[in-house]
Amino acid sequence: MGIQIAPSILSADFARLAEDAAAVSNADWLHVDVMDNHFVPNLTLGLPVVESLAKAAAQPLDCHLMIEDPDRWAPGYVEAGASSVTFHIEACRAPIRTAREIRAKGARAAMALKPATPIEPYEDILSEFDMVLIMTVEPGFGGQKFLDVCVPKIRRTRDLVAKHGLDIWIEIDGGISADTIEQCAEAGANVFVAGSAVYNADDPNKMVETLRTLATN
Ligand code: DX5
Ligand code: ZN
Repeated sequence: MGIQIAPSILSADFARLAEDAAAVSNADWLHVDVMDNHFVPNLTLGLPVVESLAKAAAQPLDCHLMIEDPDRWAPGYVEAGASSVTFHIEACRAPIRTAREIRAKGARAAMALKPATPIEPYEDILSEFDMVLIMTVEPGFGGQKFLDVCVPKIRRTRDLVAKHGLDIWIEIDGGISADTIEQCAEAGANVFVAGSAVYNADDPNKMVETLRTLATN
């Protein structure tokens, strides 16, 4: 369970996705934000774009579904080429079944929690997942300010994972930059999404390495 950096293509140029994926060749994952304008007040991309990007990008795709009815849609993202599929627990009617379907199709399954959603009600189903994504902004947009009230939840999630002896990654998403990444790593996160911090940098690949170094120390 090493430190992994996942640049979010939400901050890339949507007309140049393949080039912008190549611009972060040092990244472990490409984080792909799928928004449906219902679960969040923004609309991005869906299955056809994920299918094309999976073929065009060298990195595995980490698809973050901010959509209603993930039970219906999530397994299709594995078929489209995602290596990890994350759905919001707040939108899901059958999280165990959906996680099992994602895993059965060969991808990693993850649950995402909005900032005000606690981890504790999901302790008993943690073993159904490969990762927990803890949002550190309200989902919907890149470039928002990091919510430091979410840091204690990272620590509590890491404690629950350890208590049950599970091998589960903890991903954080929202406002991650050179200024905020260290406190999250210290609290127990190991997968770091960064959109604006990476793509607004003069050298996106260099920022990936800067973030990796800060999270590792
Ligand atoms: C927000 C998305 C994030 C977003 C992060 O809802 O889930 O992945 O791209 O962008 P930054 O890193 O700019 O906060
Ligand atoms: Zn995201």
